[in-house]
Amino acid sequence: MKFVVIFGTESGTAEFVANDVADKLAAEHEVSISDLAQVSPAAFDRDSFYVLVCSTYGEGDAPASAVPFLRTMSAEAPDLTDIRFAAFGMGDSSYKETYCQGCLVVSDLLEKHGATRVGDYGRHDASGRDHPSDLAIEWIDTILPIALAGSDLLQSDAA
Ligand SMILES: Cc1cc2nc3c(=O)[nH]c(=O)nc-3n(C[C@H](O)[C@H](O)[C@H](O)COP(=O)(O)O)c2cc1C
Repeated sequence: MKFVVIFGTESGTAEFVANDVADKLAAEHEVSISDLAQVSPAAFDRDSFYVLVCSTYGEGDAPASAVPFLRTMSAEAPDLTDIRFAAFGMGDSSYKETYCQGCLVVSDLLEKHGATRVGDYGRHDASGRDHPSDLAIEWIDTILPIALAGSDLLQSDAA
């Protein structure tokens, strides 16, 4: 199965984390990585599993690099049925009301257009002690079996 890691960032932490997640996946799988600023919603591919890593800005908003993608999604309204993804949000718990909401803005829009989010919503707290990549790699270990099991189901459905 092919994995596509997509990230939304403002000051680079989510890109750093996305690269570490992609490196971990690349040990055993085909992986590509893209900034959401360069991702076209029309290019989503049903044979890939998407891993979204995205931070939060403003008042629970998506970061700058995700904004063009959100605009294009809303304008083009692509049909994302059968697209599966998992989401890892990055934020800071000192923003009590909006903690890690930016990634959910992107995730909710993908779901609104038919995509399915699987597994737990991962989170990193910039006020906490954990290194973001350590948490993200623990998290992707919980997502992998779900992603791969789904891929087997799709293959046996097709057979
Ligand atoms: C101006 C500003 C606004 C932020 N707003 C929020 C917020 O509303 N909620 C949240 O959970 N984190 C918020 N954060 C924290 C960032 O999401 C967090 O530091 C994240 O790790 C940054 O990732 P990035 O470098 O990939 O953009 C904010 C940070 C800044 C500098």
